[in-house]
Amino acid sequence: MVDNTEALTTQKEPYPLLAASGLCKSFGGIKAVDNAEIQVAQGTITGLIGPNGAGKTTFFNLLSNFIRPDKGRVIFDGEPIQNLRSHKITQMGMVRTFQVARVLSRLSVMENMLLGAQKQTGENFWRVWLQAKLVKREERQLRERAMEVLESVGLASKAQDYAGALSGGQRKLLEMGRALMTNPKLILLDEPAAGVNPTLIREICDRIVLWNQQGMTFLIIEHNMDVIMSLCSRVWVLAEGHNLAVGTPAEIQNNPQVLEAYLGQ
Ligand SMILES: Nc1ncnc2c1ncn2[C@@H]1O[C@H](COP(=O)(O)OP(=O)(O)O)[C@@H](O)[C@H]1O
Ligand SMILES: [Mg+2]
Repeated sequence: MVDNTEALTTQKEPYPLLAASGLCKSFGGIKAVDNAEIQVAQGTITGLIGPNGAGKTTFFNLLSNFIRPDKGRVIFDGEPIQNLRSHKITQMGMVRTFQVARVLSRLSVMENMLLGAQKQTGENFWRVWLQAKLVKREERQLRERAMEVLESVGLASKAQDYAGALSGGQRKLLEMGRALMTNPKLILLDEPAAGVNPTLIREICDRIVLWNQQGMTFLIIEHNMDVIMSLCSRVWVLAEGHNLAVGTPAEIQNNPQVLEAYLGQ
C-alpha cells in the first residue's frame, strides 16, 4: 500500500514525509500493533487517535525505532529507517516526545533546552580550540533561540528552575521545546495536551499552527478531541493494534465504527 515512487509521481498527492506499512509488534501474547500503516504528508498536521490500549504509543515507538518492529517498514524523507538507530533518525529530522515526559530533573530548564540543540560548533574540538569566539557567539544564539522557544511554550519564567520542579504538564512542554531546538522536519507528539491547563492548551495549539506554517510537519496522538479536530487535516484511527479508519476530522467524527470503538472501551 505504501509506495513512495507512486506518491512522488502522482502530482496531486503531497509527498509523504513519513510512510509506514505492515508494522507489527507483540509483547508476549499481546499484539500491541498488528499490521498497521500510516502516511503523513509533508507540511500537514496529522492526528493519530484510538481508545486506550489501541497501540498508539507502541506505534510511535516503532516509527521512531525506539523499539524494533517484528515486521514492517518505515520510510522517512524517502529513506527506509527501520534499521537506523534513534539518534540517527533524530539527525535526519524526525523527533518525538513521550507520553510521560523525559526531562533531566537535576538540570535547569535552560540546560535541558541546550541539550536538545544539535550541530553546535562546540562539538568539534578543533573549532572550539581555534574559534572560541565563534563558539561563544553560537552559544549566545542558542540561548536566545532557547528563550524564544521557552516563551512559546510558556516556560520562559522557569528557565533557571530545575526541570525536576516542573509539573507533569510543564515537563511535556519542556520536552516539546527541546524537540523543537533540533529544527525537526517532523515532530511526533504523544498526548501533548494531557495534564496541561486549558489556556495553555490553546496557546500550544496556536503555536503548533505557526510552526506548521513555517514548514514543520506534525503527527499528534491526543485524547483531547478539540485539539485533534481543530489542528488536523487528516486523522488516522487505531483500534486493537490495527487501522480502523482514516479521513478528515469530520469524516472520523461521523464514522459509526470509530464511535463504537470508543464506546466499547
Ligand atoms: N513494553 C510493553 N510490555 C508489554 N506490553 C506492552 C508494552 N507496551 C505496551 N504494551 C501493551 O500493548 C498494548 C498497547 O499499548 P499502548 O501502545 O501503550 O496503547 P495506547 O498508547 O494506544 O494507549 C496495551 O495492551 C499495552 O498493555
Ligand atoms: Mg499511549
